[in-house]
Amino acid sequence: MTQTIDYSGKIPNNVDLDTDRRLQRALESWQPNFLGWWRDLGPTVFKENDIYLRTAVAVGKEGWANFDYVRMPDYRWGIFLAERDGERTIAHGQHQGEPAWQTVPGEYRADLRRLIVVQGDTEPASVEQQRHLGRTAPSLYDLRNLFQVNVEEGRHLWAMVYLLHAHFGRDGRDEAEMLLHRNSGDDDSPRILGAFNEPTPDWLAFYMFTYFTDRDGKFQLGTLKESAFDPLARTCEFMLKEEAHHMFVGTMGVHRVVERTAALMKEHDTEDILPFGGIPLALIQRYLNFHFSVSMDLFGSETSTNAANYFSGGVKGRWMERRRKDDHRLLDDFTTVTSVRDGAFVTDEVPALSALNLDLRDQYVADCNTGVKRWNKVLEAAGLAHRLYLPHEGFNRKVGVYSGHHVDPHGAIIDEAAWEARKDGWLPSEQDKSDVASLMRPVYEPGEFASWINPPSVGINQQPVEFPYVRIG
Ligand SMILES: [Fe+2]
Ligand SMILES: [Fe+2]
Repeated sequence: MTQTIDYSGKIPNNVDLDTDRRLQRALESWQPNFLGWWRDLGPTVFKENDIYLRTAVAVGKEGWANFDYVRMPDYRWGIFLAERDGERTIAHGQHQGEPAWQTVPGEYRADLRRLIVVQGDTEPASVEQQRHLGRTAPSLYDLRNLFQVNVEEGRHLWAMVYLLHAHFGRDGRDEAEMLLHRNSGDDDSPRILGAFNEPTPDWLAFYMFTYFTDRDGKFQLGTLKESAFDPLARTCEFMLKEEAHHMFVGTMGVHRVVERTAALMKEHDTEDILPFGGIPLALIQRYLNFHFSVSMDLFGSETSTNAANYFSGGVKGRWMERRRKDDHRLLDDFTTVTSVRDGAFVTDEVPALSALNLDLRDQYVADCNTGVKRWNKVLEAAGLAHRLYLPHEGFNRKVGVYSGHHVDPHGAIIDEAAWEARKDGWLPSEQDKSDVASLMRPVYEPGEFASWINPPSVGINQQPVEFPYVRIG
């Protein structure tokens, strides 16, 4: 079934908003608050410039990406759900085989609302974290990619706010207000999850964030895409299409940094390439260690009754639920969980249902490894022996079985004194941050790039690399 997109109204959508006047009015009254938030906490610069952006105009196979110049405040943030499959049934849990829900069942209302709010909270958070980066982009190409990610995270907020308004009545509307009220890093009213209160002060952090933290988003959306609540499933399915570009920005951003680093190491025969305008590999590794470890915390505790209940109730599935070869109920299945006890790693057998956060995190780690392999190919091709790696899963963890313990990046359990003495070698130090900051100079001539990053091999939407992706002046 294909639904048409109505662009004539204030809010482009494929959810027949004009047939529900109450909902339409509610969203139209939230819209000015969103635009006010965008103005106050969105990108700090290039607010009025024409930017070559992709806008969703359709969700079907006929194409959903329309590229054109647009000023960010004029971006069409719309509400788009993937096309409805009228035959869709629930794939897992106690309601397996029953028709997917088109409305929220009373007994799952609180769980669904919580999941939507937590997902919704991350979307504007990342825009807030990245708001100053427009001042120091390494090229117009990268500047445009930043803003593309920003407007799409704004649309993802819209996606969650639509669900809250359409399906959760009064408390849904209150939650939608709160999504604009909490702010990243705010002392009184921070964002819900830790990684979304960390600053993203420079472009290396931005690429690491889009690689590791947006990838957490991809996996969370993957579980919500399996939800028995069909409007949520369809919303997330469409968000995942946009999320793919955010992964690309991270993967290729780090890739291009590593390319430049490798070239400078070869040229000058030293690891200390900072004086030559490059980012040292050891520093890249420390950024990687930080962003990987804080993103691992986003998966929550390894064992979780909530996670089991979400799965059994149907409100959330597993990554690639429908491709799994088991019974999709897991009532008799067991799995192992590693933790630290008496200064050593131990493994315990636990019900598989209780370890679904770990199941998702393990899928995530495997996916993270694909980029690391790719970046190491760059080092290998340059004839360098150095390699990047993911730190041990217990490294620098604040959530779950490893919190309260210290594990070094290679998996050795160490005491507090050893951690304090050595952590600056594993995590970005103040010196690292100021070294990176010293390289962050804007380069805004079409086709030119900062000293610390290679150009991409191709441009956006088949435009040349030197295309004026942002019109300046
Ligand atoms: Fe998002
Ligand atoms: Fe994203």
